[in-house]
Amino acid sequence: MIENSSELLNCQSSGIEGCSSLVSQSLTLTGEDAQFHQSMINNITNTSEVYLNAVEYIEMASNECLKTDRININHILSNLMSCANTLVTLIPYEGNPTRRQALQQISVIVESHIAVLLKQRNRMQGVATELPQDHVASNSHGIAANDKYTTAIESTLLPFDSNLTFKNITGYSKAKSILKESLIFPKLFQGIFPFKNQNILLYGPPGTGKTQLAQALANEFNAKCFSISSADILSSWVGESEKFIKNLLRIAKEQEGYSLILFDEIDSLCRQRQSNEEDYSRRIKTELMQQMEKGAHANCKLSIIGITNCPWELDKAFLRRFNKRVYISPPDLQTKKQILIDSIDCVQNEMSDSEFVDLAGKLGGFSCSDICALCCEAMLGPFRELQSTQDWKWDQDIAKWIPESAPTSFSVQKSFYDIQTDQIRPRNLALIDFMKALEQIHGTVSQEEIERFEEFTKLFGVSA
Ligand SMILES: Nc1ncnc2c1ncn2[C@@H]1O[C@H](COP(=O)(O)OP(=O)(O)OP(=O)(O)O)[C@@H](O)[C@H]1O
Ligand SMILES: [Mg+2]
Repeated sequence: MIENSSELLNCQSSGIEGCSSLVSQSLTLTGEDAQFHQSMINNITNTSEVYLNAVEYIEMASNECLKTDRININHILSNLMSCANTLVTLIPYEGNPTRRQALQQISVIVESHIAVLLKQRNRMQGVATELPQDHVASNSHGIAANDKYTTAIESTLLPFDSNLTFKNITGYSKAKSILKESLIFPKLFQGIFPFKNQNILLYGPPGTGKTQLAQALANEFNAKCFSISSADILSSWVGESEKFIKNLLRIAKEQEGYSLILFDEIDSLCRQRQSNEEDYSRRIKTELMQQMEKGAHANCKLSIIGITNCPWELDKAFLRRFNKRVYISPPDLQTKKQILIDSIDCVQNEMSDSEFVDLAGKLGGFSCSDICALCCEAMLGPFRELQSTQDWKWDQDIAKWIPESAPTSFSVQKSFYDIQTDQIRPRNLALIDFMKALEQIHGTVSQEEIERFEEFTKLFGVSA
């Protein structure tokens, strides 16, 4: 008897019930189809009984899953295995292609349930032999090795990146200040600062740099940054997601120095609760909320940052648990201009300041990442032209060939393919390249979307 497996098995049970109804459906069809009966009678003496056996096995497994405690995983497995064997017997005798296909599908589902349950049984038996926490060694991150969840949680740790700090992020000075304050103030003014711990929600349209800002914050303070996606939580076993969250918070708090937990796309975990919501997803939310609540009274070494593109879909109880909800809007004119300048920094250009200003003004609906994409496309312009260039001028000072748009008294006719690439100096990037790029790259943020964010910000957030 293996106990405490009800959460896992409840999840399995819905699948098994599904199978059960499919088997029952096939059974109903059997009674109606005389041809099927005929072929069955020819091949096997009492087929209906065999079908009934399959249903019975699956129902017994399902009933065991529905128990709330002391679930016998071996009982479920043996019934599922008997069902699988019965299906294997039935399939070759099934003359109706539709029913045959249905039986094959059921068989695949049952087999996959068996595989999953076998794995889980082995895992549960393994857990019992694990070393107690106190006797477990520590690894390089100070996280207890051998911990059941360590590998999964450790794989979410982002490496320190000295190239991604606030300096490397253009604009958004208010957002940077809010993020800094949330970590620095509780540290500087321990005891008198009203909040011990700050949880922050960053929201805004895609590509406005929310994830980057949060990661830069971690690098600024040399904090351990656990970047968690809903897949990290939901891919763990149903019933274990809560344990994953508990352990994540525990491990993050145990770190030396600061820790940040970044829940990217948090809306996929914490949507508003609905009456028909799966039980396990409700439990995940409850666990997460409880942990955030606890964190707020623990110490100031851990902050949680939630990131989302659709804050209005978040459960209100969650919103409340974020001390600050910060709107990361599409970039303003000055930031657009600066991103343009910074992005083409690596190539020679002949853009004047007023051209940058004009260009920035044309980028309505462009997010930061849209602008980066536009710059990449524009920078290709001078390189594209090289392939069709016929006339070249040798520049003695830099010892390179420079493309000419038309023959001159100094130019030489050559093909691009006859020149070594390290001897070519493409023409300067110019406004015309951006104009051409604008035909290919468009802004992805609609006015309607911006209005929705602004509306939400008026009610729940702060604009950065
Ligand atoms: N302020 C900025 N300055 C320069 N480039 C930026 C800035 N913000 C974002 N970018 C560019 O946009 C890319 C996307 O940024 P990021 O992934 O942080 O956006 P996001 O808001 O998290 O998007 P999503 O909501 O789609 O996850 C970055 O890799 C970077 O190239
Ligand atoms: Mg992101």
